[in-house]
Amino acid sequence: MSSLKIPRRLGVNIDHVATVRQARRSPYPDPVEAARMSEQAGADQITCHIRCDRRHVNERDIRLLRQVVQTHLNVECATTEEMLVLMEELRPHRVTLVPERPEEVTTEGGLDLRRVLPEVRDASARLKEAGIQVALFIDPIPEVVQISAMPGVDQIELNTAAYADEPDTLNQIQRLATATAIGEGVGLTVAAGHGLTHHNLPLLVANVPSIEEYNIGHSIIARAIFVGLDTAVRDLKAILA
Ligand code: PXP
Repeated sequence: MSSLKIPRRLGVNIDHVATVRQARRSPYPDPVEAARMSEQAGADQITCHIRCDRRHVNERDIRLLRQVVQTHLNVECATTEEMLVLMEELRPHRVTLVPERPEEVTTEGGLDLRRVLPEVRDASARLKEAGIQVALFIDPIPEVVQISAMPGVDQIELNTAAYADEPDTLNQIQRLATATAIGEGVGLTVAAGHGLTHHNLPLLVANVPSIEEYNIGHSIIARAIFVGLDTAVRDLKAILA
Protein backbone atom coordinates (compact mmCIF):
# COMPACT_ATOMS: atom_id res chain seq x y z
CA MET A 1 0.00 0.00 0.00
CA SER A 2 1.43 3.40 -0.92
CA SER A 3 1.71 5.87 1.95
CA LEU A 4 -0.38 9.05 1.96
CA LYS A 5 1.57 12.18 1.19
CA ILE A 6 0.35 15.03 3.37
CA PRO A 7 1.16 18.42 1.80
CA ARG A 8 2.99 20.90 3.99
CA ARG A 9 0.94 23.99 4.72
CA LEU A 10 2.06 27.53 3.96
CA GLY A 11 0.80 30.23 6.31
CA VAL A 12 1.33 33.64 4.73
CA ASN A 13 1.94 36.31 7.35
CA ILE A 14 0.51 39.60 6.05
CA ASP A 15 1.77 41.86 8.88
CA HIS A 16 4.14 43.85 6.77
CA VAL A 17 1.48 44.95 4.32
CA ALA A 18 -0.03 46.64 7.37
CA THR A 19 3.42 47.96 8.36
CA VAL A 20 3.53 49.94 5.10
CA ARG A 21 0.01 51.23 5.73
CA GLN A 22 0.81 52.29 9.29
CA ALA A 23 3.98 54.10 8.16
CA ARG A 24 1.67 56.81 6.75
CA ARG A 25 -1.57 56.02 8.60
CA SER A 26 -3.10 55.71 5.13
CA PRO A 27 -6.01 53.43 4.20
CA TYR A 28 -3.71 51.43 1.87
CA PRO A 29 -2.23 48.91 1.31
CA ASP A 30 -4.88 46.73 2.89
CA PRO A 31 -3.65 43.50 4.54
CA VAL A 32 -7.10 42.01 3.96
CA GLU A 33 -6.59 42.35 0.22
CA ALA A 34 -3.18 40.71 0.64
CA ALA A 35 -4.86 37.81 2.45
CA ARG A 36 -7.28 37.25 -0.42
CA MET A 37 -4.52 37.40 -3.02
CA SER A 38 -2.36 35.03 -0.98
CA GLU A 39 -5.16 32.49 -0.78
CA GLN A 40 -5.67 32.74 -4.54
CA ALA A 41 -1.96 32.04 -5.00
CA GLY A 42 -2.22 28.91 -2.86
CA ALA A 43 -1.73 29.98 0.77
CA ASP A 44 -3.15 27.37 3.13
CA GLN A 45 -3.45 29.78 6.00
CA ILE A 46 -3.33 33.50 6.74
CA THR A 47 -1.23 34.47 9.73
CA CYS A 48 -0.99 37.85 11.43
CA HIS A 49 0.47 39.18 14.64
CA ILE A 50 -1.46 41.73 16.67
CA ARG A 51 0.96 43.57 18.92
CA CYS A 52 0.22 45.58 22.00
CA ASP A 53 1.30 48.77 20.16
CA ARG A 54 -0.69 47.89 16.98
CA ARG A 55 2.33 48.72 14.87
CA HIS A 56 0.92 46.70 11.98
CA VAL A 57 -2.26 44.62 12.22
CA ASN A 58 -5.16 45.97 14.31
CA GLU A 59 -8.65 44.94 15.43
CA ARG A 60 -10.30 46.15 12.23
CA ASP A 61 -8.02 43.90 10.19
CA ILE A 62 -8.71 40.81 12.27
CA ARG A 63 -12.47 41.40 12.24
CA LEU A 64 -12.41 41.58 8.44
CA LEU A 65 -9.96 38.71 8.08
CA ARG A 66 -12.26 36.57 10.20
CA GLN A 67 -14.98 37.21 7.60
CA VAL A 68 -13.00 36.90 4.38
CA VAL A 69 -10.34 34.27 5.03
CA GLN A 70 -11.52 31.04 3.46
CA THR A 71 -8.66 28.82 4.58
CA HIS A 72 -7.52 29.17 8.18
CA LEU A 73 -6.81 32.29 10.24
CA ASN A 74 -3.90 32.08 12.68
CA VAL A 75 -3.41 35.08 14.96
CA GLU A 76 -0.20 35.49 16.94
CA CYS A 77 -0.39 37.44 20.18
CA ALA A 78 1.01 37.79 23.67
CA THR A 79 -0.60 36.23 26.76
CA THR A 80 -1.89 39.58 28.07
CA GLU A 81 -5.43 39.97 29.40
CA GLU A 82 -6.17 42.49 26.64
CA MET A 83 -5.20 40.02 23.93
CA LEU A 84 -7.01 37.08 25.47
CA VAL A 85 -10.26 39.05 25.73
CA LEU A 86 -9.86 40.15 22.12
CA MET A 87 -9.23 36.60 20.90
CA GLU A 88 -12.22 35.28 22.84
CA GLU A 89 -14.32 37.87 21.05
CA LEU A 90 -12.85 37.53 17.53
CA ARG A 91 -12.32 33.77 17.63
CA PRO A 92 -9.75 33.11 14.91
CA HIS A 93 -9.27 29.45 14.03
CA ARG A 94 -5.97 29.36 15.88
CA VAL A 95 -4.05 31.57 18.27
CA THR A 96 -0.28 31.23 18.44
CA LEU A 97 0.99 32.53 21.76
CA VAL A 98 4.26 34.45 21.50
CA PRO A 99 6.41 36.43 23.94
CA GLU A 100 6.44 40.18 23.41
CA ARG A 101 8.82 42.84 24.62
CA PRO A 102 7.57 46.38 23.87
CA GLU A 103 10.82 47.72 22.35
CA GLU A 104 11.58 44.67 20.20
CA VAL A 105 11.81 45.10 16.40
CA THR A 106 10.39 41.62 15.87
CA THR A 107 9.73 38.58 18.06
CA GLU A 108 13.08 37.81 19.67
CA GLY A 109 12.65 34.23 20.77
CA GLY A 110 10.14 31.61 21.75
CA LEU A 111 8.17 31.29 24.97
CA ASP A 112 10.48 29.98 27.65
CA LEU A 113 8.02 27.64 29.29
CA ARG A 114 10.50 26.95 32.08
CA ARG A 115 9.76 30.53 33.23
CA VAL A 116 6.27 31.42 31.99
CA LEU A 117 4.42 28.13 32.31
CA PRO A 118 1.54 29.27 34.58
CA GLU A 119 0.45 32.17 32.37
CA VAL A 120 0.76 30.09 29.18
CA ARG A 121 -1.18 27.22 30.73
CA ASP A 122 -3.99 29.56 31.82
CA ALA A 123 -4.09 31.34 28.45
CA SER A 124 -4.18 28.05 26.54
CA ALA A 125 -7.04 26.75 28.68
CA ARG A 126 -9.06 29.94 28.15
CA LEU A 127 -8.56 29.92 24.38
CA LYS A 128 -9.40 26.24 24.14
CA GLU A 129 -12.55 26.86 26.16
CA ALA A 130 -13.50 29.48 23.54
CA GLY A 131 -13.16 26.84 20.80
CA ILE A 132 -9.86 28.15 19.43
CA GLN A 133 -6.90 25.94 18.49
CA VAL A 134 -3.76 26.83 20.42
CA ALA A 135 -0.14 26.88 19.28
CA LEU A 136 2.94 27.88 21.24
CA PHE A 137 5.90 29.62 19.61
CA ILE A 138 9.00 28.09 21.20
CA ASP A 139 12.70 27.69 20.60
CA PRO A 140 13.84 24.19 19.56
CA ILE A 141 14.89 23.18 23.08
CA PRO A 142 13.97 19.57 23.98
CA GLU A 143 12.84 20.41 27.53
CA VAL A 144 10.61 23.24 26.29
CA VAL A 145 9.06 21.00 23.63
CA GLN A 146 8.25 18.41 26.30
CA ILE A 147 6.61 21.02 28.53
CA SER A 148 4.49 22.21 25.57
CA ALA A 149 2.50 18.99 25.64
CA MET A 150 -0.08 20.31 28.07
CA PRO A 151 -3.88 20.19 27.97
CA GLY A 152 -5.33 22.68 25.48
CA VAL A 153 -2.23 22.92 23.29
CA ASP A 154 -2.52 21.50 19.75
CA GLN A 155 0.62 22.69 18.08
CA ILE A 156 4.11 24.07 18.54
CA GLU A 157 5.73 26.50 16.17
CA LEU A 158 9.50 26.14 16.27
CA ASN A 159 11.46 29.37 16.09
CA THR A 160 13.71 29.18 13.02
CA ALA A 161 15.47 32.53 13.62
CA ALA A 162 18.79 30.89 14.60
CA TYR A 163 18.59 28.60 11.56
CA ALA A 164 17.82 31.60 9.32
CA ASP A 165 20.93 33.36 10.64
CA GLU A 166 23.12 30.32 9.89
CA PRO A 167 21.25 28.10 7.43
CA ASP A 168 24.29 26.08 6.44
CA THR A 169 25.15 24.84 9.87
CA LEU A 170 24.23 21.26 10.60
CA ASN A 171 23.79 22.20 14.23
CA GLN A 172 20.67 24.35 13.72
CA ILE A 173 19.05 21.78 11.44
CA GLN A 174 19.82 19.07 13.98
CA ARG A 175 18.19 21.13 16.75
CA LEU A 176 15.05 21.60 14.65
CA ALA A 177 14.96 17.92 13.65
CA THR A 178 15.29 16.78 17.26
CA ALA A 179 12.62 19.22 18.48
CA THR A 180 10.28 18.11 15.67
CA ALA A 181 10.70 14.44 16.57
CA ILE A 182 10.05 15.14 20.26
CA GLY A 183 6.99 17.26 19.42
CA GLU A 184 5.53 14.56 17.20
CA GLY A 185 6.30 11.99 19.86
CA VAL A 186 4.20 13.84 22.43
CA GLY A 187 1.31 14.24 19.99
CA LEU A 188 1.76 17.85 18.88
CA THR A 189 1.52 19.19 15.34
CA VAL A 190 4.83 20.84 14.46
CA ALA A 191 5.07 24.13 12.58
CA ALA A 192 8.05 26.42 12.03
CA GLY A 193 8.66 30.05 11.26
CA HIS A 194 10.69 33.22 11.58
CA GLY A 195 13.24 34.52 9.15
CA LEU A 196 12.48 31.95 6.45
CA THR A 197 13.03 32.88 2.81
CA HIS A 198 12.98 31.19 -0.58
CA HIS A 199 16.75 30.87 -0.19
CA ASN A 200 16.90 29.12 3.20
CA LEU A 201 13.63 27.17 3.14
CA PRO A 202 14.62 24.33 0.73
CA LEU A 203 17.43 23.04 2.95
CA LEU A 204 15.17 22.90 5.99
CA VAL A 205 12.34 21.16 4.13
CA ALA A 206 14.76 18.59 2.71
CA ASN A 207 16.31 17.83 6.09
CA VAL A 208 13.28 18.02 8.39
CA PRO A 209 10.53 16.84 6.02
CA SER A 210 7.90 16.20 8.69
CA ILE A 211 7.38 19.83 9.73
CA GLU A 212 3.74 20.26 8.70
CA GLU A 213 3.35 24.01 8.50
CA TYR A 214 5.48 27.07 7.80
CA ASN A 215 4.51 30.63 8.71
CA ILE A 216 6.41 33.13 6.59
CA GLY A 217 5.92 36.87 6.34
CA HIS A 218 8.69 39.41 5.98
CA SER A 219 10.49 37.75 3.07
CA ILE A 220 7.25 37.18 1.14
CA ILE A 221 6.11 40.79 1.42
CA ALA A 222 9.63 42.08 0.71
CA ARG A 223 9.93 39.92 -2.39
CA ALA A 224 6.41 40.87 -3.49
CA ILE A 225 7.65 44.45 -4.01
CA PHE A 226 9.71 43.17 -6.93
CA VAL A 227 7.97 40.06 -8.26
CA GLY A 228 4.39 40.55 -7.04
CA LEU A 229 2.59 38.79 -4.20
CA ASP A 230 1.19 36.05 -6.40
CA THR A 231 4.65 34.92 -7.57
CA ALA A 232 6.18 35.30 -4.11
CA VAL A 233 3.54 32.99 -2.59
CA ARG A 234 3.56 30.48 -5.46
CA ASP A 235 7.35 30.13 -5.32
CA LEU A 236 7.22 29.18 -1.63
CA LYS A 237 4.34 26.78 -2.19
CA ALA A 238 6.44 25.05 -4.85
CA ILE A 239 9.27 24.58 -2.33
CA LEU A 240 6.84 22.96 0.14
CA ALA A 241 5.27 20.63 -2.45
N1 PXP B 1 5.92 32.96 13.34
C1 PXP B 1 5.87 33.76 14.43
C2 PXP B 1 5.41 33.17 15.72
C3 PXP B 1 6.20 35.12 14.36
O1 PXP B 1 6.14 35.89 15.46
C4 PXP B 1 6.57 35.65 13.11
C5 PXP B 1 6.88 37.11 12.98
O2 PXP B 1 5.74 37.85 13.33
C6 PXP B 1 6.61 34.79 12.00
C7 PXP B 1 6.29 33.44 12.15
C8 PXP B 1 6.98 35.26 10.64
O3 PXP B 1 8.33 35.62 10.62
P1 PXP B 1 8.94 36.33 9.36
O4 PXP B 1 8.18 37.62 9.18
O5 PXP B 1 10.37 36.54 9.72
O6 PXP B 1 8.74 35.41 8.19
